[in-house]
Amino acid sequence: MARLRQITDATLLAHVNKLGEEHPPIRMDSVDFTVNNPDVLRTRFAGVLDYLARVELEVERNVLELLTIMPNPSEADKVFYSDVWYDQEIAHGQILDELKRRIDLPEAEPLLQVGFAVQALGALAKWEPIQDVARTIYYFTGASTERQAVLAYNALSSQLDEWGELAVRDTIINQIKRQEPGHFAFYRMSAEKITTDGTLRPWQLYLARVLREHSYELVGTHHDPQHQATMGEVIDVLGFSGQLEVFAKEIGRLEAKLLWANRQGMEFPPYVLRALRESVEMYREQGSFAARLS
Ligand SMILES: [Fe+2]
Ligand SMILES: [Fe+2]
Repeated sequence: MARLRQITDATLLAHVNKLGEEHPPIRMDSVDFTVNNPDVLRTRFAGVLDYLARVELEVERNVLELLTIMPNPSEADKVFYSDVWYDQEIAHGQILDELKRRIDLPEAEPLLQVGFAVQALGALAKWEPIQDVARTIYYFTGASTERQAVLAYNALSSQLDEWGELAVRDTIINQIKRQEPGHFAFYRMSAEKITTDGTLRPWQLYLARVLREHSYELVGTHHDPQHQATMGEVIDVLGFSGQLEVFAKEIGRLEAKLLWANRQGMEFPPYVLRALRESVEMYREQGSFAARLS
């Protein structure tokens, strides 16, 4: 099938520069931390807020991972993660953590070390063809993660509306939510470029599929049962647990198409739904984040 427009390095760089210009990091003093009912935020949204704050602050670890697996990044990659993405995400994390502090929730505990698997991949990525496999996986991880963020902030914004927490909704969640689609677009375009511009040989695509299938996890879960349970709580509180297949399609559609070529009518890779189900089950078994605090 002919493509209308091939994404190029210049397209990506232009997108990144525009993101930087249009979305400076959110300033702490632009936020109104007025909370009408701290008890509701604390009891109903403790897990959600802790999860979101932690995952945003883990951008520090994500950037270290990128430096590890991409010894030779493109200009667009480099400008994105060092000049645009990092500053935006860290501000999201700091603002959410400040909100938590003000309603007497403990500070988030982000994981900041790079794991062994990524270090091993980084050692191999000194060989350019492996680096291309590694960054293919990274683009899909980024796209899936940012899509989860977009969906989560949209749902949280509506819920805060229902609970009458308008200052938090407007000056925190809605401000953050406006910055996430641009991140998703960067990863989507990068994934689209690398899987369609002839960079990858069939063995590299095959390897990317195998690695993706074996390493897939939802954002910020780190194969840790407690984090998985809290992710299950986020999914449940935000109203997605009754429609996991729809959610799986939202976050897995891009890789089903680009990485798996919609094999046998695939709408999302099975490992996405599996990870969602596992998280929700763990939440049911372990109970809420707030309950674990006390
Ligand atoms: Fe963010
Ligand atoms: Fe983001």
